Amino acid sequence: MKKLSISVITLVVASTLAWNFAALPIPDQWDKNEQSLINSLSLTNLPALPEDPSNAVANNPLAAALGHRLYFDTRLSSNNTVACASCHKPELMFADGLDLAVGISVGPRHTPSLIGLAYSPWLYWDGRKDSQWSQALAPLEASHEHGSDRVQLISLLMDDSTYKEMYERVFQSLPEDLDLPPSASPLGDAQQQAAWNSMSNAAQNSVSRIFSNMGKAIAAYERKIIPGPSKFDEYADMLSDNSSTRQNDLLSNSEIAGLKLFIGKAQCVNCHNSPLFTNNDFHNTGVLAVSGQLPPMGRYDGVRSARSDPFNCLGEFSDATPTQCTELRFARDENDLVGAQKTPTLRNITLTAPYMHGGQLNTLQQVIEHYNDAPTSMLSHNEAKPLGLRAVERRQLESFLRTLTAPLATAEKWLSPPEN
Ligand code: HEC
Ligand code: HEC
Repeated sequence: MKKLSISVITLVVASTLAWNFAALPIPDQWDKNEQSLINSLSLTNLPALPEDPSNAVANNPLAAALGHRLYFDTRLSSNNTVACASCHKPELMFADGLDLAVGISVGPRHTPSLIGLAYSPWLYWDGRKDSQWSQALAPLEASHEHGSDRVQLISLLMDDSTYKEMYERVFQSLPEDLDLPPSASPLGDAQQQAAWNSMSNAAQNSVSRIFSNMGKAIAAYERKIIPGPSKFDEYADMLSDNSSTRQNDLLSNSEIAGLKLFIGKAQCVNCHNSPLFTNNDFHNTGVLAVSGQLPPMGRYDGVRSARSDPFNCLGEFSDATPTQCTELRFARDENDLVGAQKTPTLRNITLTAPYMHGGQLNTLQQVIEHYNDAPTSMLSHNEAKPLGLRAVERRQLESFLRTLTAPLATAEKWLSPPEN
């Protein structure tokens, strides 16, 4: 009896293995469409960094050096412990490994990685900012993040001789005659707002101008954060290189099968496309709301916030002419954007767990199961449909996602605080 059950188990295991093996496509069996799709995902085809006409110093090395210093400086926070780098940690691919971000207090969202964001016309999960410099201003004044305010911040800049010198080499001279309260902001608590309202328009304008320049310097630094080629890119480049002797073992059979699913049956490539594996657009994928929160309105509210933001592309602190603000002027705002979040990059995805806008999913396996089930969205509708992937296919898809990890193509000096 005992013997029989063991051989039954052996039989089951053996037949499962044979069946799994049979499910694998043979490498190099890509058709023309698949080949060009794979090619379109390779970093070799990443275009040059797009210009940001709203930021005149986006490519200025002195601005990047100033931004680098600001990025790592905890003095930019109300309790001297929070910097951009506290949440966007270079060693974690500029994410933080937490479900929800922790600054001065716990915030409502998961910290996204900052890799390749210079390519993204919209920032934040809901896209409520339309440039990197404008985005960088928000955490500085958010009570749960840096918890500082623009008057405190520009006072720090004016009182610190290194900052003052670096700033004045990039922008105009800092004013000597500004009579400022110790703390004030139009976005602060009642006291900060009252102090702000007591300032003259000219003083308010000078403060906001210097503040916006801090954001422009930080954005110049952030443009350095770009991904480096991974095992997948090597494979994709090998496929499109017909002349050379092909090296067929760059990806395992399971990884290749996962790639086939990614661009085929699993439909991931519909949204996670181009060399950064994102279409930079907004979709409702039925992710459950963070516990204790209402389901978010997502991009529906985000596009409205971006339009009314005083630091947007059309605003007085932008360096762009209105005709250059195409994204903002022609942004969609239809009802189907309710509950939609920005498609994140999948580059280095193994290093940026947990996942989704609230860190709701802990592992890639859970993410894939989520897509496989495609649960009903609590608000509006889930754009993704159930996939019917078998267990082996789900594992293959995950093994493919693991081929997208690689060191950044960012010079080492930008990955830690400036030396002096
Ligand atoms: C307390 C942690 C924390 C701090 C400090 C912080 N961030 Fe973030 N960052 C987040 C979270 C959380 C989000 C997502 C928020 C959202 O979408 O609503 C985010 C979003 C972003 C984004 C948009 C990412 C995307 O995919 O669109 C950028 C860029 C960014 N932060 C840069 C910065 C910079 C620059 C600083 C410093 C000035 C900074 N952050 C400070 C947690 C933090
Ligand atoms: C309809 C567009 C769409 C499709 C199809 C899609 N995704 Fe996504 N993906 C998104 C959006 C939007 C998010 C962010 C959702 C959120 O946070 O609420 C996301 C998030 C993710 C994340 C988490 C990234 C992070 O940094 O938090 C992973 C991993 C992922 N998708 C993988 C996949 C895989 C694998 C497939 C195919 C099975 C797939 N996606 C199909 C749009 C899509």
